[in-house]
Amino acid sequence: MNFTPFTELTSARLSLRKLKESDADTILFLRSNEIVNRYIKRPEHRQTKTISDALNFIRTQHNNLEHSISIVWGITLKDKSELIGTICLWNFSVDKKVAEVGYDLNPKFHNKGIMTEALNLVLDFGFNQLKLQKIEAFTDTKNENSKRLLTKNGFILNPSRKDVDNESNLIYEIFDGIVNS
Ligand SMILES: CC(C)(COP(=O)(O)OP(=O)(O)OC[C@H]1O[C@@H](n2cnc3c(N)ncnc32)[C@H](O)[C@@H]1OP(=O)(O)O)[C@@H](O)C(=O)NCCC(=O)NCCS
Repeated sequence: MNFTPFTELTSARLSLRKLKESDADTILFLRSNEIVNRYIKRPEHRQTKTISDALNFIRTQHNNLEHSISIVWGITLKDKSELIGTICLWNFSVDKKVAEVGYDLNPKFHNKGIMTEALNLVLDFGFNQLKLQKIEAFTDTKNENSKRLLTKNGFILNPSRKDVDNESNLIYEIFDGIVNS
């Protein structure tokens, strides 16, 4: 599994591109804004509180990409370069058959179907390019928007699994062959 060269993804309204260091302002916003982060719990060392933290985050993502550890796409509207959100595949299993999806979106762009469009691009990439067997999502039990996004797009809650690191998380799963079937 090799994430370089970076695979850009496009849909009717969106471009999903590599993060740039000039995205640091927006990354800081997305990772610190109260609405976006209401249901996201990160350990202290993964928090983004300053521009310098945001730059470090972007550089870490570039390094992870180079070493095929994880892949983050910046979400933009097709005719604009400004980021409106991000979506990633990370936490790959050792055998590279399972990965976790994560996403965030500027609240100005919520309720327009944008994350549904981005998620479908990433599911298609994960299953058809990376040949994943399963994609998981960990989301807070109170995060209704995220739960709706997942169930609407074919994810199924696995009630028998628990997130040992965060008891308020639910674990959703989607398997290869389920997308768009
Ligand atoms: C989770 C999150 C990405 C969901 O975003 P969203 O905009 O609600 O997601 P969607 O893309 O599915 O759009 C939802 C609504 O847009 C509406 N919509 C409007 N125009 C649309 C269009 N052209 N196409 C499709 N849907 C459209 C849909 O009706 C849909 O509402 P419904 O689900 O009630 O039917 C967003 O709430 C977010 O960023 N939250 C903060 C970060 C977060 O919690 N991340 C998850 C951590 S696990």
